[in-house]
Amino acid sequence: MHNYSANRYPTDTHSFAKPTEAVVKHLELDLDVNLTNKSISGTATYTVTASQNAAEIIFDTKDLVIESVLLENGQAADFTLGEEKLYLGIPLHISIPQHTTKLSIHYKTTAKSAALQWLAPEQTGGKQHPFLFTQSQAILARSWLPCQDSPGIRFTYNAQVKVPVGYLALMSALNPQEKSLDGTYNFSMTKPIPSYLMALAVGDLEFKPISGTTGVYAEPAQLEQAYQEFTELPEMLAVAENIYGKYSWDRYDLLLLPPSFPFGGMENPMLTFVTPTIIAGDRSLTSLVAHELAHSWSGNLVTNATWNDFWLNEGFTVYFERRIMEALHGQDYADMLKVLGYQDLQHTLEEIGHSSKDTCLKLDLTNRDPDEGLTEIAYEKGNLFLLAIEATVGREIFDQFVKGYFKDFAFQSMTTEKFIAYLEAKLLPPDSPYSKIINPEEWIYQPGLPITGPVITSNRFEKVQEQVTLWLNTTPANALKTENWSTHEWLYFLNGVSSQLTYGRMAELDQTFNFTDSGNAEILAVWLHEAIKQEYLPAEAVLENFLLHVGRRKFLVPLYKALREQNPEQAKSIYTKARANYHAVATSTLDALLF
Ligand code: BES
Ligand code: ZN
Repeated sequence: MHNYSANRYPTDTHSFAKPTEAVVKHLELDLDVNLTNKSISGTATYTVTASQNAAEIIFDTKDLVIESVLLENGQAADFTLGEEKLYLGIPLHISIPQHTTKLSIHYKTTAKSAALQWLAPEQTGGKQHPFLFTQSQAILARSWLPCQDSPGIRFTYNAQVKVPVGYLALMSALNPQEKSLDGTYNFSMTKPIPSYLMALAVGDLEFKPISGTTGVYAEPAQLEQAYQEFTELPEMLAVAENIYGKYSWDRYDLLLLPPSFPFGGMENPMLTFVTPTIIAGDRSLTSLVAHELAHSWSGNLVTNATWNDFWLNEGFTVYFERRIMEALHGQDYADMLKVLGYQDLQHTLEEIGHSSKDTCLKLDLTNRDPDEGLTEIAYEKGNLFLLAIEATVGREIFDQFVKGYFKDFAFQSMTTEKFIAYLEAKLLPPDSPYSKIINPEEWIYQPGLPITGPVITSNRFEKVQEQVTLWLNTTPANALKTENWSTHEWLYFLNGVSSQLTYGRMAELDQTFNFTDSGNAEILAVWLHEAIKQEYLPAEAVLENFLLHVGRRKFLVPLYKALREQNPEQAKSIYTKARANYHAVATSTLDALLF
């Protein structure tokens, strides 16, 4: 038998740390956030475990100023900063005497610290106060605190954060629910987490509870809307626990960010960060919350050991997200999400090429920015692989397996290879009849999709397809049967008519369905993409406004790509105006596209 729980440190080419020599176990973080100077200064005091003969401990840093390092006894430690490496930053080597168990690093962030986005008042909902948030995944934690920035290394933390009076500070930890009188806040994360889950936000924020263990933080002007949109949170948590076992993180709260947040959501433990673009008014985009909640098991509990194993985080999470939505809203609902995901996967495969190595589940991101290698493949091919296993062994057996996986490897990291070994030992022994139906090695190490993959269909989309066909055969838009269509049905409709649109036919759809005025960001983003391709003038102002305010990379990239193709001058001029509103993870992608 394998010893699955043996947790040696995997080689991570995206970190300078050498955890087998000296590794962090706990962090006491003491920070001062200066919203005027846009800088964080503070002390990171680490409890470490060093091997007998370790002469140094190595941390990752990027665009930080390291001021001093003190040993436990208060003496200054010798440290050196190594050579800067592209994407990775600079290793901080600290000499340690034998038996060192603690050291303190005094540091400050710089204007280049890429995890941080400092918002001016105009960029917030309330328009009165500045705002700060971090985005650490994949390898940006090192730009706001010196850390061993590898997902294979876990530590607990406490923090004390000082912010200006009148602001609330929140972290990926047990959080305050009210502003303090002196602007000082204390946090504790008692479960070991990897550095990419370190998070901080500071702003004019308020809390509203949804249940005893769930709630939402937002700026005052958005709090009620956010509360209304996310009221199903307690039910989500309950159905999730029902599928894969008890939630491990005590509370589950959401933080609604300003629109420049570069992602849809980020699964910071105990406090998921979400984009306001999922507030549709009708709770139709809450599968994103289910996704981030699902990460509380896949990702935060059992963590990809390196970014090459990213599919273990996202593939399981997409699968679990749709199980949660199925439990809440039925199979027909979840099937729609699966089909839309499958369409996204097909687009990605076309774009990067079915035989590209980047379409393997196991990636090789050596010497690359991991952020650029993380595509739909991990999400949707990963999900499809798990659906294929489920279809082969049956849901009940698959559920038991996954539940056991989260239990056996809780608070540990997982490599793809270790997963395969576990899969073969528990579920798919190479000599079983199943092995003729499904080949994990092919799914994981071969590009493209195995031809034996599951077939994904949706009843509700078949009805939409009928209307697509009618409209393409010149039935007028106002004669189509679209009553009770959800966001997903509209998205499927738009995908279905996309290749046949003309300026005139867009105008007809717009007159009937008011897409240009849609308050639903997902629908609007697809519509604006078509508007760019057809140079559909009535949407031009809305497009510009969207690009100026929304910083979600998933929307920006296709829009700017289409715009660049259609009208490169306009693409550049809008981007030049909008760029200051975007987070560094968005500008690093878009700069490459537009400059
Ligand atoms: N953890 C990811 C976001 C992420 C991935 C940030 C890689 C940095 C590097 C998060 O859980 C996620 O997947 N967000 C998606 C939403 C989801 C419903 C597909 C997003 O932001 O669009
Ligand atoms: Zn995710």
